[in-house]
Amino acid sequence: MEIRPLTEHTGAEVLGIDLTRPVDATTRATLNRAFVEHHVLAIRDQHLDPPQVLAAVGLFGEIFHQHNTRFALPDCPQIHYLSNQDSFPDGKRYIPGEGWHTDHSNDTRPPKATVLHAVTLPDQGGDTQFANMAEAYAALPAATRARIDPLMAIHVYQSSHSARKLMDLSATNKERVPNAVLHPLARTHPESGAKSIYINPIRIEGLLGLDHKEALPLLHELLEHATQEKFQYRHAWKPGDLVLWDNRCLLHKANGDYDMGQTRYLYRVMLQGDVPH
Ligand code: SIN
Repeated sequence: MEIRPLTEHTGAEVLGIDLTRPVDATTRATLNRAFVEHHVLAIRDQHLDPPQVLAAVGLFGEIFHQHNTRFALPDCPQIHYLSNQDSFPDGKRYIPGEGWHTDHSNDTRPPKATVLHAVTLPDQGGDTQFANMAEAYAALPAATRARIDPLMAIHVYQSSHSARKLMDLSATNKERVPNAVLHPLARTHPESGAKSIYINPIRIEGLLGLDHKEALPLLHELLEHATQEKFQYRHAWKPGDLVLWDNRCLLHKANGDYDMGQTRYLYRVMLQGDVPH
């Protein structure tokens, strides 16, 4: 197995491993260390069916139960699909994952990681962008770090300030998803100890104790700072990619910039995380 960094700060590709075969403890530990070090792992040349995806992602942690079960695969509901072929009830095409975000931050214990496995890709485009929130935090002026360190953000399923609209939750899903949770605006990675900006434009409704006149410009300023190109890794998908990223220290976004006559379909699994501190 070979692990090759893709940028100086984010992303590594993993070559020479077949996840349909048993993985020994040393290799598993190496993969988990590489995940914490590089934040995005693109494991190349995998061709996994849903049970094999579950076995492969089990190398990195426990499955997190996703909030909107409408995307669950009928025969393997722990795996969801991402597809550009779904529409909102008003007929508008739904492109999952557009706009910068981190996954399911409206959970009390948001997923530490999300895994996508490419099943069908468009000929061109449909990249996933990642922005490194630890690099962005470290590059903030000291006064901004001191300002955001004590702040708590209110995360909900769908922020009223979000430009991106999510698919509604069913009544049953609504019952098990918290109405609102509080997370620190700057969180410490439980494994690396690095501090990151923890924002989510589609989920943050406000900042505790600040009125919107103060909170919204601050959130906007943090997003503009954190998503500068110098903090990014842009993943151009290849057939067979299994990509795993760390939601604790990254924002990501999908790009709906390809021929919508072509299908983009990936399996999606998330891994359980801790309470952010
Ligand atoms: C997501 O936000 O989970 C989807 C990313 C993608 O489809 O590229």
